[in-house]
Amino acid sequence: MGVYTDWVLPRLIDRVLDTADFREIRRTQVAEIDGRVLEVGFGAGANVAFLPNTVRHLYAVDPATSVRGIADRRLRARGMSVEYVGLDGARLELADESVDHVVSTMTLCTIPDVERALSEIRRVLRWGGRLHFVDHGRSPDPVVARRQRRLNGLHGRLFGGCHLDRDIPALVRASGLTIDTYSADYMAGPKVMGFLYRGVATK
Ligand SMILES: C[S@@+](CC[C@H](N)C(=O)[O-])C[C@H]1O[C@@H](n2cnc3c(N)ncnc32)[C@H](O)[C@@H]1O
Repeated sequence: MGVYTDWVLPRLIDRVLDTADFREIRRTQVAEIDGRVLEVGFGAGANVAFLPNTVRHLYAVDPATSVRGIADRRLRARGMSVEYVGLDGARLELADESVDHVVSTMTLCTIPDVERALSEIRRVLRWGGRLHFVDHGRSPDPVVARRQRRLNGLHGRLFGGCHLDRDIPALVRASGLTIDTYSADYMAGPKVMGFLYRGVATK
């Protein structure tokens, strides 16, 4: 913890992920959510602009409290509010089966205990509820995957614990959720950071 991790990094990531392509990915990924919604890794609220008006109650969890001011501005612009429910996706302060949808973008790569976070996501989703995820991770190309493994330590130190090579769909399936729709491809930019998974999984 320090100025870099607490202040510089969350703002830097918010900027880096604010491309036209990524905004479109955010928009399509949250287009069909409604009711009670939890965002795991809410950060500076980059998805808020794209949330449909059918969202009735927004819960959020993220340890990066220093960017809540940015999130507040985005929420005000949409006439929305948020209820923060703790600081760690692996310990959700919500009752069992209490949300209709969970959104998580570029966060399952970073949460230290990602298995526990996914098990918590499954716990709080109602039956038939859905997890909408976008994340980067392990490339199917063995050469790229080898580079990802090699760079993992350095990358994690620079980017707040982010892993380059998590197999996100495998982790989602292992949590007991069923993946209904799924796509994966490289984003623009370095391949080691850019193999992007997008999917929706149901409890
Ligand atoms: C790359 S940023 C993505 C932020 C945002 N979701 C987005 O799409 O722009 C990763 C986020 O994961 C959050 N994070 C790290 N550890 C976490 C944890 N244990 N539980 C929940 N969020 C966590 C970070 O604070 C950061 O906001």
